Amino acid sequence: MSGTPASLRFAHLSDVHLAPMPPARPGQLAGKRLLGWLSWNLRRHRRHRREVLDAIRDELRAQPPDHVLVTGDLINISLPEEYARAAAWLAELGSPDRVSLVPGNHDAYVAGAADRGWPYWAAWMRGDESAAATFPYLRRRGFAAIIGLSTAVPTAPGYASGRLGAVQLAALRALLRDLAGEGLFRIVLLHHPPLPVSRPRKALLDREAFCEVIRRAGAELVLSGHEHRFHEGMLEGAEGPVPCFVAPSASLASNDAEKRGGYLRFGIGRQREGWRLEVRLRRYRVDRAALVETCARELVLARPLAGADCPTGSAS
Ligand SMILES: [Fe+2]
Ligand SMILES: [Fe+2]
Repeated sequence: MSGTPASLRFAHLSDVHLAPMPPARPGQLAGKRLLGWLSWNLRRHRRHRREVLDAIRDELRAQPPDHVLVTGDLINISLPEEYARAAAWLAELGSPDRVSLVPGNHDAYVAGAADRGWPYWAAWMRGDESAAATFPYLRRRGFAAIIGLSTAVPTAPGYASGRLGAVQLAALRALLRDLAGEGLFRIVLLHHPPLPVSRPRKALLDREAFCEVIRRAGAELVLSGHEHRFHEGMLEGAEGPVPCFVAPSASLASNDAEKRGGYLRFGIGRQREGWRLEVRLRRYRVDRAALVETCARELVLARPLAGADCPTGSAS
């Protein structure tokens, strides 16, 4: 396995809610999209600020990770112009081989929008072997296997729930089992949290079925967003507990410590006793106009070595 790095560094961003919102033509605003447009212009535009996103982008340029993971809600009401603007933002963040994206509910806000909009982002959300964006996708980066899922489905006004569906769950289970045999560090990305942290109208509707897949097939890390709050927990996994993190919004400017926007940095390395995982939460302080570290974790995931040629080293 020469050429495989001893450690990998990841950044995890979620809920970009890119500002400013482009102007909408009158014919584009009706039903749920009209309500979302009003919500953005009355309240949300004051909270989701470009300077928070720019601070994260600048930090990622100054301290580049090996790969960036983005768990959805790039945009707000799925206007055609929003998809194009978000593609430009993604290109600034990194090339498609260094950035992996899964969509959120705001990226499929109304029926039919995703069909026209997701092709703009396809290069960032397709597998190594795929010509188009299909879910689950698989990307291999060193000893890591990145698996991208879509929970993004249009919902009625007042709802923000998500669904994976039986077909995607069956494909995920097969993929996780195959990859376990290769001894890879399996990272699963989905927008809606699989932890019990969401109100029913915002929840992942097949959360129990997803947890059952992880329980039977295992994984090493599950990352999500959607709640605009940081959460952490463990899921039961086939080979041992699976850490699960919910990132805060990458654009929220708030003086409330619990609501502050930010992102997560991970360092992953292989040691003889298992995978070593370092996690750091970086949040934006409005009063300092800067990102600061507010939380750090070190975990060891006991997993058997798949082969004698598996690289060992500490996370960084
Ligand atoms: Fe969001
Ligand atoms: Fe969301």
